[in-house]
Amino acid sequence: MQPGESDATPLPRHVAVIMDGNGRWARQRGLPRVEGHRMGVRAVREVVECARELGISYLTLYAFSLENWGRPEPEVRTLMALLQEFLASELPLMRKHRIRLRAIGDLASLPFAVRQILTRTVSATEGNEEMVLTLGLSYAGRNEIVRAVRKIAAEAAAGTLGPQGVTEELFSERLDTAGMPDPDLVIRTSGEVRISNFLLWQSAYAEFVFTDVLWPDFGKSEFLLALEEFSRRHRRFGLTDEQAGTPPAK
Ligand code: FPP
Repeated sequence: MQPGESDATPLPRHVAVIMDGNGRWARQRGLPRVEGHRMGVRAVREVVECARELGISYLTLYAFSLENWGRPEPEVRTLMALLQEFLASELPLMRKHRIRLRAIGDLASLPFAVRQILTRTVSATEGNEEMVLTLGLSYAGRNEIVRAVRKIAAEAAAGTLGPQGVTEELFSERLDTAGMPDPDLVIRTSGEVRISNFLLWQSAYAEFVFTDVLWPDFGKSEFLLALEEFSRRHRRFGLTDEQAGTPPAK
């Protein structure tokens, strides 16, 4: 039985992934780092397909962080080219499988050609309702929070928002992820155990699954294992076991 096929194995509504280990995958094979990214795109395709088949409503992938701009220029250029290729080649599949594309991050800093194809793909898939695929591009959680605070400060300065109007709900609606549920599960590959500025506000109650598998080797079976692990977790959201209806913690 696969996760999601029974009530006993709840499927996360929103899965977010920190795709890590492309460089190490390439180094282990004596290949240039960019080859790891190329194979990483294959893993992206497999995981998107699997999430869609399982009926996961939201899949968010950390594809390029704000900090990644500091990498060697040829690597940044290759990543942007891969992104452009991916957006161009996947549109027919997104249409077929009714996947809506969204992007979060400081999108204004992306190269013009990437912004152009991104805008086109986002609007071409706007009406799709089977799954929302969100790409973190030039994304950093702290930067997203600061941009949200700026929007709120502008509203306050314009006199349309007072201190009592600033609630958690309003704040969430000023983030790039406005309208999306918080992630239930965050997966990170490659053995690193940290959050790296990803969805800082949104993962307040997320379950985390860390795997040693490097991103280019991550595929359907590793994704299913992470979902299985999630299904064994007991989420209490700060309540007691009795209140949350979960088995007593050991
Ligand atoms: C981390 O591995 C991965 C990235 C910085 C980029 C992720 C990009 C892709 C998977 C391909 C492009 C994405 C899309 C959506 C088309 P790393 O380079 O930090 O690996 P390392 O820690 O082993 O050096």
